[in-house]
Amino acid sequence: MFETLQPAPADKILALIGLYRADTRPGKVDGVGVYKDRDGRTPVMRAVREAEKRLLAGQDTKTYLGLAGDTGFNAAMIKLAFGEKADHSRIRAAQAPGGSGALRLVAELLQRTRPGATVWLSDPTWPNHLPVMRGAGLQVRDYPYFDAVSGAVRFDDMLAALKAANSGDVVLLHGCCHNPTGANLDAAQWARVADVLLERGLLPFVDIAYQGFGEGLDADAAGLRLLAGKVPEMVVASSCSKSFAVYRDRVGAAMIIAKDSAQADVAMSQMLAAARALYSMPPDHGAAAVRMVLEEADLKKDWETELEEMRLRMLRLRVAFAEALRRQSNSDRFDFVASHRGMFSRLGLTEAQVERLRTEHAVYMVGDSRINVAGLPEDGMDELAKAIVSVLD
Ligand SMILES: Cc1ncc(COP(=O)(O)O)c(C=O)c1O
Repeated sequence: MFETLQPAPADKILALIGLYRADTRPGKVDGVGVYKDRDGRTPVMRAVREAEKRLLAGQDTKTYLGLAGDTGFNAAMIKLAFGEKADHSRIRAAQAPGGSGALRLVAELLQRTRPGATVWLSDPTWPNHLPVMRGAGLQVRDYPYFDAVSGAVRFDDMLAALKAANSGDVVLLHGCCHNPTGANLDAAQWARVADVLLERGLLPFVDIAYQGFGEGLDADAAGLRLLAGKVPEMVVASSCSKSFAVYRDRVGAAMIIAKDSAQADVAMSQMLAAARALYSMPPDHGAAAVRMVLEEADLKKDWETELEEMRLRMLRLRVAFAEALRRQSNSDRFDFVASHRGMFSRLGLTEAQVERLRTEHAVYMVGDSRINVAGLPEDGMDELAKAIVSVLD
C-alpha cells in the first residue's frame, strides 16, 4: 500500500531548528524559533506553573468534557480577544488543539457554509496557512502586503486587491505581530480595511497568535475589536502557544461572530460537528491551566506582569538591533526593525545571504530572512550586525 508514496517535503523551519541544535559553534544565534529569555530558555510562565499545581491538587476526574472542550476557557478567551464591550450574545467559541487546530476548525466551518470559498492570505504569510486552508477544501489567493525594501505594509496595493475580491470571499488578517514580516496595520488602516470588507461583503478571518507580544494585551486586539464592532459576521482563530508559553500543550480557540444569537448557535453546532470528525475533543490540560490563569485574579495579574516583561524585552532587543545595524551599515536601511512588532522581522536578505550567515557566522534565520528578535544576543548585537552587513552585496 505505502509503496506508492513519495516522502513528504521536510518542514523547512523544523529542519532549521534541527541544524541549529546540532551546531556546536560557540555564540551561535537562534533567530528561528520561539520566544527566549536572556538565558536562551523558553520557561513555563510562573502563573501557568502555579495553575498547574492547583489543577493537580483539585482535579478528581478526567472524564470527557465535550466537543467544545472547557467552556470556562472558551468564555475567558472570548473576553480576552473581544474585550468586555462586544456583543457577546452573537459570539461563540470552541476550544481547539492550538492555533493551528483553531484555524482548521474555522476553515472546516467555512467549507460547510460555502464549499470551495476563496480565502485571501497576505503575501507573505505564515506558511502553514496555505495547507490548513487547502486541507479543508478552500481555495487560496493572496493580497499584496509587505514592501521588502522599506519594511512597511503595501497598504494601497492591499486595499486595491481586497476591493477586487468577490463578495463572499474570506480575508485572513493577522490580528497583531504579523508573521513573518513584523509589519502591522495601524488603527486608521484597520478602519479602512473594515470599511472595504463591509462594502465588498467579505468575511474577516482574524488569526491572533501573539496577543500581548506587540503593543500590549488590549492594543494588540484593537484591530480585531474594531472589526467586531462593525461587521455582521466574522471568524477568529486564537492561539495560546506564545502568550501563555504552552506551545506543546496545544491550546487555542476557534471563534465565530454571527448576525444574531440563533445563527451563532447553528454555526457553533456545525463547527462542533467538524471537530467531531477531525479529533472529537481537544486536549484538556493546557486549556484548563489557561482558564485558571484568566479566571483567578492573582494568577491573571502575575501572567500579565510576566507577559509585559517579555514584550518589553522584545522591544528593547528591537531597538538595540536596529541601532547596531545602523552603526555597522552606516545606513538607515534596517531602521524598520525598531518599528516592527512581535517576535519577527523580515530583513530583506536573499536566500544566499541567509545561507552565508548560517554557514559562515552561525547566525540562523528562516530562508526568507525572517529573524526572531527574541532569540538575539543582548550583549552581542554589534557582532551580529557586523555579520549581517558582511554578507550584503
Ligand atoms: C500566525 C500564526 N498563526 C497561528 C499559529 C499557531 O500556533 P499553534 O498551532 O502552535 O498554536 C502560529 C504559530 O507559529 C502563527 O505564527
